[in-house]
Amino acid sequence: MMQAKPLRSSSTGALAGTVRVPGDKSISHRSLMLGAVAVGETVIHGLLEGEDVLHTAASMRLLGAQAERGADGVWRVRGVGLGGLAEPAQVLDMGNSGTAARLLIGLVASHPITCVFTGDASLNKRPMARVTNPLEQMGARFVGRSGGRLPLTVVGSDQTVPITYRLPVASAQVKSAIILCGLNTAGTTTVIEAEPTRDHTELMLRHFGATVTTEVMEDGALAVSVVGQPELTGREIFVPADPSSAAFPVVAALLRPGSEVFLPGVGMNPRRTGLYDTLVEMGADIGFENRRDQAGEPVADLRVRHSSLKGIVVPADRAPSMIDEYPVLAAAAACAEGTTVMLGLKELRVKESDRLAMVADGLTKCGVKVEVGADDSLTVHGTGKPPQGGATVATAMDHRIAMSFLVLGMASADPIQVDDGAFIDTSFPDFVGLMNGLGANIKGI
Ligand code: S3P
Repeated sequence: MMQAKPLRSSSTGALAGTVRVPGDKSISHRSLMLGAVAVGETVIHGLLEGEDVLHTAASMRLLGAQAERGADGVWRVRGVGLGGLAEPAQVLDMGNSGTAARLLIGLVASHPITCVFTGDASLNKRPMARVTNPLEQMGARFVGRSGGRLPLTVVGSDQTVPITYRLPVASAQVKSAIILCGLNTAGTTTVIEAEPTRDHTELMLRHFGATVTTEVMEDGALAVSVVGQPELTGREIFVPADPSSAAFPVVAALLRPGSEVFLPGVGMNPRRTGLYDTLVEMGADIGFENRRDQAGEPVADLRVRHSSLKGIVVPADRAPSMIDEYPVLAAAAACAEGTTVMLGLKELRVKESDRLAMVADGLTKCGVKVEVGADDSLTVHGTGKPPQGGATVATAMDHRIAMSFLVLGMASADPIQVDDGAFIDTSFPDFVGLMNGLGANIKGI
């Protein structure tokens, strides 16, 4: 159990400077996992060294791959080849990370090994049946708690069969778990998604040499197919800065008068940029400079200047492209002029915490008027003036709830405290140092 780390964020002046946001979490997990089943060496530049990704690295080592950080900060993975993962002698601890757990369950499911997965108190509450149901259809077996929750034993098989599976929820984790199981399954495995979710697995698999196709179906859904048992070859990977982490300094700079902040090399995969589209619609001044391609992923340098934001309606079909960004958008909405309505937030209830409830409770405590709709919508009434703040907000082991309320504290009349900032290390190590370097006033209490 980590020691709770309460933090207080107080109102600040203008933010200024350049901030190098750590590497993308989704891409970092995938680079370690694919590197581990490729032949030869994978060299990873800019890997996120947050707790979540370190749990993946440790698990890949327990499964037989080598994964080490060099003194130069570059990670090198020596893979075992597809189908070559070894049975781990210990329980695989996924910590706080749903992505690590769900993707790795998929990857090991098509290996003839038995693995026991566990996580922290937050992860062990999260639903896993969404991955174990399709993987069972492919031939793996599972013994877990109710709802398939962790701790969970996976009995993998090297006789898995390909399936065609329509996702019941818009989830890149579920899509990826099936594709990763399909990787060591003879034949073609297809996942159909009604709403496009992040495609880092598909992009990176192609980079490693697999055949992955995406087809638009008659009803507009996407059919993503992987041809099983390819030869994967170790590659060089340049991990872009995480747009989900960049969201915090971006929103902070928008909210503080006089601010100008520069963020180089931020991932701009269109399946991840819903928050940026939304902020621009709200009136944000964000420059997307020097757009380029970095090892198959689009990136840009962001220049953000303080802006007066206006409330808008955020449509439900945008949710998959900004699923992790609603807490910080809610902080921005609390400072905007007018009402912001965010639709289609059901999935927020099964993240690291019930984010819909945590955001609504925290904002209410800070004096912001909010409503949660029966349709899982969130309405935030901004007044264009700083919210009152002056509250201690519960974070429920959720890094993004903690960071979002620390950003709100920078723009509130009175300081905001979060009960525990320890989980920030899962995705954004040195968040406090980087934010204070721009001019924030965040301190331990
Ligand atoms: C992720 C997918 C999303 C996101 C998570 C990372 C991924 O989860 O919330 O932080 O890397 O595939 P879902 O697929 O469950 O929506």
